[in-house]
Amino acid sequence: MSNVFYVPGEQRAAKVNDLFATIARHYDLINDLQSFGLHRRWKRRVIELAVVKPGQRALDLCCGTGDLALTLTRRGAETIGLDFSPQMLQVAKNRSQKSEARNQNKNPTSDFRPPTFVQGDAQAIPFPDNSFDIITVGYGLRNLTSWEKGLEEMFRVAKPGARLIVLEFGKPANALWRTIYFTHLKCSVPLIGLLFCGNAQAYAYILESLKHYPAQLAVAEKMRGLKLMNVRVINLLGGAMAINYGEKLK
Ligand SMILES: C[S@@+](CC[C@H](N)C(=O)[O-])C[C@H]1O[C@@H](n2cnc3c(N)ncnc32)[C@H](O)[C@@H]1O
Repeated sequence: MSNVFYVPGEQRAAKVNDLFATIARHYDLINDLQSFGLHRRWKRRVIELAVVKPGQRALDLCCGTGDLALTLTRRGAETIGLDFSPQMLQVAKNRSQKSEARNQNKNPTSDFRPPTFVQGDAQAIPFPDNSFDIITVGYGLRNLTSWEKGLEEMFRVAKPGARLIVLEFGKPANALWRTIYFTHLKCSVPLIGLLFCGNAQAYAYILESLKHYPAQLAVAEKMRGLKLMNVRVINLLGGAMAINYGEKLK
């Protein structure tokens, strides 16, 4: 059965935008439920790989509700979170304001500067070449009409020496594990979507989009094609999730 939120070709972006407008308010809760809270651990791994040095410039693409962008900021990076969904960006801004207020209460002299959230398309990043030291994308690449274009854009705005980090659903090499995991995505995840967000289709989209996404090995191949250095695939949970890492040549 086809999914109302997955359509190939030019209509894709509009449908993805509809999808995130629908689920924005419930996104964080369902993320925790469907991943058993593990996405937080995987995102910590992304942040470790980013090796943030104070004052460096970071760009978090498809930032959604802003968790990666906020953490990059807390580590000292001057951070921009970019997303095309106004609804997801609104949640990110609210979260950032709360975090800033908490921070001010604890430490009134702190010079914590929240991330800047920008509406824009990850396939046409509205920043000049060689702008950022760190570029992350969490669960975003799979949603783009062209994930290759997304990576090319990440490469373009990366400064020489910058770190590019992609966290995304993966495809386990082990056939049995892949079947179990795809069954979870096919059955339990839409059920969680139905129970907590009233929308099973929005969560059935994950498996549908993953079927059309070539996942970690192809992303690594593309990174090599862009002449990134130290290209690595870090498989998490037996490849059910993956981090792709690469550095732009100095
Ligand atoms: C699954 S959410 C990921 C949110 C967050 N990065 C995380 O790790 O939880 C995917 C996000 O990508 C955004 N997105 C999808 N296509 C996009 C595009 N072409 N340009 C910018 N953002 C896009 C959606 O609006 C959504 O917020």
